[in-house]
Amino acid sequence: MCGIVGYVGPRDCSDVLVSALTKLEYRGYDYAGIAVFENGKIEVAKSKGRLSDLVAKMEKEGKPKGHAGIGHTRWATHGEPSDVNSHPHSGRRVTIVHNGIIENYKDIKKFLIENDRTEFLSDTDTEVVAQLLDFYYDGNPIRCIRKVLHEIRGSFALGIVFADRPETVYAVRCESPLIVGQGPGEAFIASDVPAIIKYTKDYYLLEYGEIAVLKNGSVSFCDFHGRMVEKELKTADFDEDSAEKGGFEHFMIKEIHEQPTAVKTTITPRIEDGLPNLSECGITKETLKSFNNIFIVACGTAMHAGMVGKYVIEKLARVSVTVDIASEFRYRDPLLNTDDLVIIISQSGETADSKAVLNLVKEKGAKTLAIVNVKGSSIAREADMVIYTHAGPEIAVASTKAYMVQLSVMYLLAFEMAFAKGKITEEKCRRLTSELQKTPEVIEKAIGLSYNCQYISTKLITADSLLYIGRGLDYALSMEGSLKLKEISYIHSESYAAGELKHGTISLITEGMPVIAVATQTSLLEKTISNIKEVKARGAMTIVICDDEAEFDDEVADHIIRIPKISEMLMPMVATVPMQLLAYYTSVNKGNDVDKPRNLAKSVTVE
Ligand code: M6R
Repeated sequence: MCGIVGYVGPRDCSDVLVSALTKLEYRGYDYAGIAVFENGKIEVAKSKGRLSDLVAKMEKEGKPKGHAGIGHTRWATHGEPSDVNSHPHSGRRVTIVHNGIIENYKDIKKFLIENDRTEFLSDTDTEVVAQLLDFYYDGNPIRCIRKVLHEIRGSFALGIVFADRPETVYAVRCESPLIVGQGPGEAFIASDVPAIIKYTKDYYLLEYGEIAVLKNGSVSFCDFHGRMVEKELKTADFDEDSAEKGGFEHFMIKEIHEQPTAVKTTITPRIEDGLPNLSECGITKETLKSFNNIFIVACGTAMHAGMVGKYVIEKLARVSVTVDIASEFRYRDPLLNTDDLVIIISQSGETADSKAVLNLVKEKGAKTLAIVNVKGSSIAREADMVIYTHAGPEIAVASTKAYMVQLSVMYLLAFEMAFAKGKITEEKCRRLTSELQKTPEVIEKAIGLSYNCQYISTKLITADSLLYIGRGLDYALSMEGSLKLKEISYIHSESYAAGELKHGTISLITEGMPVIAVATQTSLLEKTISNIKEVKARGAMTIVICDDEAEFDDEVADHIIRIPKISEMLMPMVATVPMQLLAYYTSVNKGNDVDKPRNLAKSVTVE
């Protein structure tokens, strides 16, 4: 829920830290801070608010000048966002930045107070760790870190500097992700690769239970027992441009435009001779045949991709699929058998609830398949099988291209499973696969509808509340449309199965209330149109998203967004585009911070 960075090398450390934090701000933006060795002394600059507030403060008061240090941008978890609660936090000789949660910080604080350590300034769990490090520090940093690691509980990563170890940065990983970048004569730490891609593409992935020491531009590693560890240097498969806005006003709109390429890159290597082939992901036909029940578990947008997956897998492969929200699934003692498959979908691969589900499911002996975007993330590494989506880095908090590629994988999986189980013929499987291969082109055309969506969004900005409705796949899709809109426009929005409206929700309709109806399923069109008529008759302003061949009485719609038609089953991949654009332009028109909506963060690594 926050971003850690660190640097040791010849460059101006404050500049490097700020530049790296800029790329991590999507992880949290309630406060930011840095600590740099200046003439052998640790100098701290920190501020509540955005990174730009910290930069402004340093412009006014001066920035720490040096060549080694740590930095942080955070989504507040303990205490309100304030200068004092901002990281870095210090003990007398130790300064740290921290990502994650220390579960037993209250017990540790009590222990420290009982031992005459009473100088706590903030409400954070982090300061308690800084004080504990200081309490145990006897001049040997690794010994001290190891001792503390045996006492604190939780899921976290730390960046640490000791006042008497100038030009040296220590990093620790326990669950929360952390990478160590290596350039010629310089080294970095970061919560995510895009933060340092400007400086180097080479990095080590710190594993759970490892400590890194960055000194004199080089790096060494040991485990929590103090044993040296040899690690493999990896190279990022994207460059700085992919982590920049590339001429677009916001990351979100850039990422919407990247969807055709992302889909192509995700599906192409998994199609062989016109048929889906997921064997490179460790998924064989035999495996696919063996499952009796499927559970798809995820959070937010990823869960919505799972909803589409449910419709498609059940329809084609005739296997029962249950979709669950990870935070519910983990506490409801789910009924799982060893011949069940649990699919965890996650862009980041680090979402705390989804990760907890993975662990739970493994304990119960069911097979796990992760559909993940971030390479080497915890969920990807711990699942039995993994299908990586190739969306590239997604920076905007509102997920767009990650959702789109998750959908594309749901289809591939459904097609291959249905064929493996003998529920569809080879010819049908080929036809569906070939249709899927055409989607990048159709998505491109749908993006071309920006102007229409931009105009319609002007009709939404004054709304206090709106409804998204649909039937079948359109209902699954409307859940995502509704989340996208409320997330960045701050307009209250709900999604409803169109046929369910008259069982209560229709009483909400008042004169001029927007109702966005997704009506791309030809077989259900007539029924959906009846539901649109019902809300229209009660004064709703109706916006209909349908294909460009749909025939109905135009009068039911105040506004129509016609999208290119492909096969009914694949329409969600096209219809999602106008929903993203409506949300984007509504947010822009309201003057909101599109990429960093209030109260949110990209990667939710706390419960
Ligand atoms: O990284 P994940 O896919 O596991 O994240 C899950 C949700 O937090 C995420 O999809 C969230 O709902 C997005 N902000 C929605 O745009």
